[in-house]
Amino acid sequence: MRTAFHRVIAIDGPAASGKSSVARELARRLGFIYVNSGAIYRAITRYVLQHGVDPDDGVRVAQTVESADISCGLENNESRILIDDVDPTDHLREDRVNEAVSRVSSVPQVRQILVAKMRSYACNHDLVMEGRDIGSVVFPHTPYKFYIDASPAVRLRRRAAQGQRDEIAARDRADSSRRASPLIIAEDAHVIDSSNLTIEGVVAEILNRLKLKGLK
Ligand code: DC
Repeated sequence: MRTAFHRVIAIDGPAASGKSSVARELARRLGFIYVNSGAIYRAITRYVLQHGVDPDDGVRVAQTVESADISCGLENNESRILIDDVDPTDHLREDRVNEAVSRVSSVPQVRQILVAKMRSYACNHDLVMEGRDIGSVVFPHTPYKFYIDASPAVRLRRRAAQGQRDEIAARDRADSSRRASPLIIAEDAHVIDSSNLTIEGVVAEILNRLKLKGLK
């Protein structure tokens, strides 16, 4: 399957690995659109919770998501999602969303619907897209794949510095062990350990690599 007419840079990695800051800055430097796929899973999770659906009830989760009017658009060169015309952006980091997002995103029908929306961004734009399965499932044919990691201690520190209560170890376990599109390192991904690097350092390494790969 080849849907990407435009160039896609895939950035995957576990929670709090620094991939959002890196992906946003990289997109800015390249003049590409930045798509945060985690935000899309978070938005749908909030919607499911607001409808009083148990995130462990995969059948009801799937029905709820199937009936939602999901619009994936852009604002200031970044992805922006509306569900039933509501913009949930300010609520995506709520504790209850952090706690439920891995369960909602493990439902295959949810992934199927959201992956189609994510792919559609590449019909009209060059993208930097970050997530868990961008290089392995969403855009497996892109030659530009990166996997950003950091030690568990560094990732915990980064989340704490953001003032968030987020059980990242539990989320990583769930995201890596689920059946549908688990977090894996794509075979052809370039792995970067960001534990001792600044955002600028990681971006510089990616830009170097992209140059070697001939990205204009
Ligand atoms: O990137 P993030 O921590 O905001 O992602 C939140 C959750 O969304 C993550 O724990 C699992 C899910 N997710 C996913 O299943 N696939 C993606 N491509 C991105 C996120």
